[in-house]
Amino acid sequence: MTVKQPQAVEITPDKLAALQPFELTDHLERGRVLVFPTAPLQLPSDDELHFLKHQTPAYHTRKNISYYPRAQRVLGIKAPAAIEQRTQDILAAYQARVESCLQRLIPSFTPGWISATSSLRVFEENNRDIAIRSRSDRLHIDAGTYGASRGNLILRFLTNLDDKERVWRCKGTVSDLVESFGEEAGLKRGDSLLHDGLLNRIGSGMVRGLSQVFPVMGTLEQSAYDRAMRQMHNYMKESEAFHQESEGMVEIRFKPKSCWLVFADMAGHSCLSGEFAMINTFMVPRQNFRHPEFSPWETLRRYAAGQSALPPDIPLGT
Ligand SMILES: [Fe+2]
Repeated sequence: MTVKQPQAVEITPDKLAALQPFELTDHLERGRVLVFPTAPLQLPSDDELHFLKHQTPAYHTRKNISYYPRAQRVLGIKAPAAIEQRTQDILAAYQARVESCLQRLIPSFTPGWISATSSLRVFEENNRDIAIRSRSDRLHIDAGTYGASRGNLILRFLTNLDDKERVWRCKGTVSDLVESFGEEAGLKRGDSLLHDGLLNRIGSGMVRGLSQVFPVMGTLEQSAYDRAMRQMHNYMKESEAFHQESEGMVEIRFKPKSCWLVFADMAGHSCLSGEFAMINTFMVPRQNFRHPEFSPWETLRRYAAGQSALPPDIPLGT
């Protein structure tokens, strides 16, 4: 059993100026965290940051305040209209800037992608008094938040807006996590791991239609793939033994005003501490991978077929 440490790869402005084709996407496909010590885009202004930090916390109704670009709605806040509108405007503008930044940095991932959410976090993540499956300070891979992804990937661009570091603890990448812990997590080998029944497909179609108008409805949609990923997510968050065993664990510290980019369903991660951050999410079609062998879908397909879940060894840059 070998659990890999997810690697953090620092992308300085000098490196950004001399990128090779696929350099960034090749790292991301391998579950690595790209760290930008200098933000590669314009951050919200000081005035906007002051507003978000001091005017919104009293009005949170959920873990995040999230703007949904496709529905053009903000959820997770109940505030006087002017505060809701300004919050929405700042989150929408930042999502648009992140989108154009990523179109520049990782163009091969963007065809057919979906701009999913622009989220604000303003509460300390450490030991929050919420259900264990919702806590960000427990190790996990992301799963199920966007309904049925059916193998499309959750790409997250994070920005530490605070004056102190945000600290992550990471452990494992999806393939070695499934290989080592799939059985303990209850994943059953065989065709049903990835294939949806007819009733599920019909129900999903209806929910998908409704979610164009009511974004939260989309989270109700299910697929076999998403259920399997959710099982891994739940196992990781709930297992004390998994948290105690240090093989494959690494701590990554993100400086104030730095950014990072990761497939949150590929690198095992938790946020040990941190308070004020933005999380911008895009759903990337798995077909956009240069090497689909690394994707969670292919990982689960190999596992379901009774093979090793680990991908072949493909050298970086090929
Ligand atoms: Fe997460």
